[in-house]
Amino acid sequence: MIVLGIESSCDETGIALYDSEKGLLAHVLHSQVELHAEYGGVVPELASRDHIRYLVPLMEQALQQANLKQSDIDGVAYTAGPGLIGALMSGACVGRSLAWALDLPAVEVHHMEGHLLAPMLEENPPEFPFVALLVSGGHTMLAHVTGVGQYELLGQSLDDAAGEAFDKTAKMLGLGYPGGPVLARLAEKGRAGAFKFPRPMTDRPGLDFSFSGLKTFALNTWHELQADSEGLDDKLEQGQADIARAFEEAVVDTLSIKCKRALKQTHCKRLVIAGGVGANQHLREKLSSMVKKESGELYYPRIEFCTDNGAMIAYVGCLRLMAGEYKGLSIDARARWPMDELSSIQV
Ligand code: KG4
Ligand code: ZN
Repeated sequence: MIVLGIESSCDETGIALYDSEKGLLAHVLHSQVELHAEYGGVVPELASRDHIRYLVPLMEQALQQANLKQSDIDGVAYTAGPGLIGALMSGACVGRSLAWALDLPAVEVHHMEGHLLAPMLEENPPEFPFVALLVSGGHTMLAHVTGVGQYELLGQSLDDAAGEAFDKTAKMLGLGYPGGPVLARLAEKGRAGAFKFPRPMTDRPGLDFSFSGLKTFALNTWHELQADSEGLDDKLEQGQADIARAFEEAVVDTLSIKCKRALKQTHCKRLVIAGGVGANQHLREKLSSMVKKESGELYYPRIEFCTDNGAMIAYVGCLRLMAGEYKGLSIDARARWPMDELSSIQV
């Protein structure tokens, strides 16, 4: 079965073709980073308009890349939530209409399930059960995954998501958008131990997270540094990098401590990292050494499948369509969509 996947939940338009027999056939992506950069964050209305502009041309590009025709497609999968409602509607309308026009089944895909199962697109995919750390711009959660659609929530962020904390801290430091990768790059120049940031909620049991205090800690440190370095540009520049490093280390350490706890609690040996923050090199290194010490194994998607993409949507859509799931003619995009509403399927 060949499935066309459409991702348009935020600021990336992704289209992919996944074949149940041959695997991923093509994937193309258009990032809106430049469009939103001057506003310092995603402008929802601009995002929707841009998705509309790129969805069909990208679809043609993906078909061309796979050397296929529209008539070769057996099903359509589109992200129906969670995300920005206008952005979701753009992809959902195009996906649902295309399926109707070609008389094909269409299925709604949960964006976070896409992230969670993205490591399955790699050569050495994890077997169930595993613990998944989902770290994106809108979500931070730990789940015990026993099958497709079987996601037991172990913990989540009580306030900002990890990616959101990266983005907001980067903005406060004047680093612009998108904050995560920019802050991570600057952190490379920071000195270890120049500042010590807290590791929130690690001194008590449980698997929930809280990142908003870290962001405030970074802001206060930045203000103090600015007051101390008046006229001393070099000191300010180095201090900014030191703050970025201390912040990144605090987030990475906190995530690692909680992942270790989650593995112990579930008696799992396999850990999966997914979502945009999973692209962070230090997070990968830290979790890799932690998991090694626990005699476990770490799995993550390639960098381009950590952040939003159509491949993960085509993949999940293919699994769900093959299991007989499909959507009627109505188009119901959802800004919020709890993961526990997903049905479990046999693969
Ligand atoms: O999964 P994603 O592409 O979109 C959502 O579903 O939210 O995640 C985007 C988030 C943003 O907050 C971005 O700053 C963060 O992932 N991110 C990173 C890195 N690359 C992307 N955070 C830290 N380090 C990175 N290298
Ligand atoms: Zn995402």
